[in-house]
Amino acid sequence: MHSRHKIETLASAVHHFCKWWDIPVRSVLDVGAGVGYWSDWYRNNYSRTKVVSVDVSEHACKKYGHERRDISSWTPTRTFDLVICQSVLQYLDDQAARSAIRNLAKATKHVLFFEVPTKSDLRHNVDREVTDLEIYSRTGAWYRQELSRNFKQAGAGLWISKTSTIVMYELEGNN
Ligand SMILES: C[S@@+](CC[C@H](N)C(=O)[O-])C[C@H]1O[C@@H](n2cnc3c(N)ncnc32)[C@H](O)[C@@H]1O
Repeated sequence: MHSRHKIETLASAVHHFCKWWDIPVRSVLDVGAGVGYWSDWYRNNYSRTKVVSVDVSEHACKKYGHERRDISSWTPTRTFDLVICQSVLQYLDDQAARSAIRNLAKATKHVLFFEVPTKSDLRHNVDREVTDLEIYSRTGAWYRQELSRNFKQAGAGLWISKTSTIVMYELEGNN
């Protein structure tokens, strides 16, 4: 898990990337929000942004004020300018993860920030001493294939909805 300070740095970078793409972030959905650092950052810095945070854990919902939702079965009824799903899908089996990605796509008007450890990360990049290893590991290719049905990859965890008005130059992303 990342520190509050690290998430504040990331949230500021993602917010300003949206601004760079001329997207005013008026609404945010944080999926699997956990301790709620993203929502806190938005509420503290952009109080006019509508923030919805959801989590499947009853404990997290009670303690941090999220709505209780399972992203593999919950289809949001509206879209959000920015959707965050950080370190969540590794807890879902293939079928649930596929269905969660479909629901993330339905929720995303413009930008999805998505992070998950892949098989390669687990082998080469994560500190196994401090990482929860009771998870489903899948390849980066698996996630790319599922996400690319509805998103274009921009890099640094950012995925742009194919229905968004954002225009990216060819070398800005992986088109
Ligand atoms: C490792 S924590 C990450 C929390 C936060 N996103 C972060 O990066 O600090 C994973 C969170 O995802 C939540 N979660 C797991 N499966 C979920 C699901 N199907 N739908 C919504 N939340 C889920 C867990 O309850 C937990 O709070």
